[in-house]
Amino acid sequence: MNIAIIGSGYVGLVTGACFAHLGHRVVCVDNNPRKIASLRKGVSPIYEPGLEEMIRENTRLKRLYFTADIARAVEESKVLFICVNTPPKENGEADLSYVENVSREIAANLKEYRLIVEKSTVPVQTGEWIEKTIRENQTRKALFDVASNPEFLREGSAVHDFLNPDRVVLGVSTRKAEKILREIYEPLKAKLVVTGLKSAEIIKHASNSFLATKISFINAVSRICEAAGADVEQVAYGMGLDPRIGPSFLKAGIGFGGFCFPKDLMAFHRMAEKLGVHFPLLKDVLQINEEQKSYFIQKIEKAIWNLRDKRLGVLGLSFKGDTDDIRFSPAIDIVKVLHAEGAAIRAYDPEAMPGTKAVLTGITYCKNPYEAARGAEALLILSDWDVFRQLDYARIKKLMKHPVLFDGRNLLKPSAMHKLGFRYHGIGCLPPS
Ligand code: UDX
Ligand code: UDX
Repeated sequence: MNIAIIGSGYVGLVTGACFAHLGHRVVCVDNNPRKIASLRKGVSPIYEPGLEEMIRENTRLKRLYFTADIARAVEESKVLFICVNTPPKENGEADLSYVENVSREIAANLKEYRLIVEKSTVPVQTGEWIEKTIRENQTRKALFDVASNPEFLREGSAVHDFLNPDRVVLGVSTRKAEKILREIYEPLKAKLVVTGLKSAEIIKHASNSFLATKISFINAVSRICEAAGADVEQVAYGMGLDPRIGPSFLKAGIGFGGFCFPKDLMAFHRMAEKLGVHFPLLKDVLQINEEQKSYFIQKIEKAIWNLRDKRLGVLGLSFKGDTDDIRFSPAIDIVKVLHAEGAAIRAYDPEAMPGTKAVLTGITYCKNPYEAARGAEALLILSDWDVFRQLDYARIKKLMKHPVLFDGRNLLKPSAMHKLGFRYHGIGCLPPS
C-alpha cells in the first residue's frame, strides 16, 4: 500500500518507519525542512530506541522517503495519516489548527479517491470537521473517506508497541475504509477493534484519561501510606494482582508528564463540558498530579531545610526514562522551582540535556551522573532511566557532601541504599529515622 504520513514527529516517524518495515511504501511529510534534511541523511531528529536503525534500513530498501512536498505525497499515496501535533490551548482545549491546515492542503491536492486517517489524538467529532473541511475546499471532484486510527505508543518503547499492539482500533464509516485499514495492518496479525469514527476518537481520550487516573490514584494513596507508615510499593503490588485492577500504571512517583496525558486529560474534560457532561474526576486527577510535584519539593525542604545556595544533584530531566522528550516533564517543573528558590542545581540526563538547555538556563549540566552528585547536599532522581539503577552508589556517596537521596521514581531498593549509608527518601514509604 502507498501511504503518506503527514507530520513526522514522535508519533508520525514511528508510524511511518513501522509501516515501511511491514512492507508498505511510505512517504513521511513534514513542514520543517531541517527535519526532512536530517531524515534524508538517516539521522533521527528524536531519540527513540530502535527507530534510527529502522529508518536507515527502510530508506535503503526504498520503502521509506521524506519530503516537505505535501502535494506530491497526496498524489502518490492512497492513504494519508494525519500525525501533526495537537497542542493544548490556554483553556485546555486541543488546538486543531494544524489538523485543519493539513485538511485544506489535502483538499487542494485531491484528484482521486483517498483515505484520510486521523492518527493524532483529537477530540471526538474532529473526524466530522476534517470531512467538512475537505469537502468545502476540494477543487476537483474526488471521493474520499475519513477514518480514525488512534495510536497507543509509549515513548521509549514506541517501536515495540507499534509492532506488538494489544489492539488496533479502526474507527470507520465505510466498508471501503475498513478494508483498506485491515489490509495495512494485516502483517501485524493484531487484534482489530472496528468501531464508528466517534467511538474510536473517544477510545483514545478515555484510555489516556483512565491510565492517568490510575497514576493519580496511586500517588494519592502514596501520601496516605507515608502519613500512616505503610509502603506504597507493597500496596500497589497487592492491589495489582487482582486482574480487575492490574499491575501496570500503578507506579507512584512525582506525577505523570509528557505530551499526552496532561493535554489529553484537559482536552477530554473540555470536550465533556462542551457536550454538557459533568466529569469533575478528570480535574481531580490533574490536581493530584500538580500537588504531587509540590509535595515532593516540600519533602526535600522538610529534610534539608532552606534551599538557598544548597547544591542539589539531579538525575533525569525527561518526562520519563528512555526518551529525550521534555514536554510537560515533572522533572523540569520541579527543577525550575528548586532553582527559583536559590538551590544550585547540577543536572544530568542521558538524552534530554540538549532540549532542556534551550528552556532552562542558570543550572549546571554535567557530563555524567557522578559529576551531578559531586559536592551535593542531596541527590534527586526525577526520571526512571534504567542506567540510574546501575550506578555505583558507594562512589556516589563518597562524592556527595551529605548522603541524602530523594528517589522521585522509587527506582532504587531502600534497604540497599540504607545499607550504603544513605538517608533514603522514596515515595510513599517511611522517611529515614
Ligand atoms: C502526536 C500527536 O499528533 C498528538 O496529538 C498526540 O497526542 C501525541 O503525538 P507528536 O508526534 O508528539 O504529536 O508531535 P511532534 O513531535 O511535535 O510532531 C508533529 C510534527 O508535525 C512536527 O514534526 C511538525 O513539524 C509537523 N507539522 C506540524 C507539519 O508537518 N505540518 C503542520 O502543519 C504542523
Ligand atoms: C502515553 C500512553 O501510555 C500511550 O498509550 C500513548 O497514548 C501516548 O501517551 P507516553 O506519554 O509516551 O504514552 O508514556 P507513558 O509510559 O504512558 O507515561 C506517561 C507518564 O506517566 C510519564 O511521565 C511516566 O513517568 C508516568 N507514569 C507512568 C507514572 O508515573 N507511573 C506509572 O505507573 C506509569
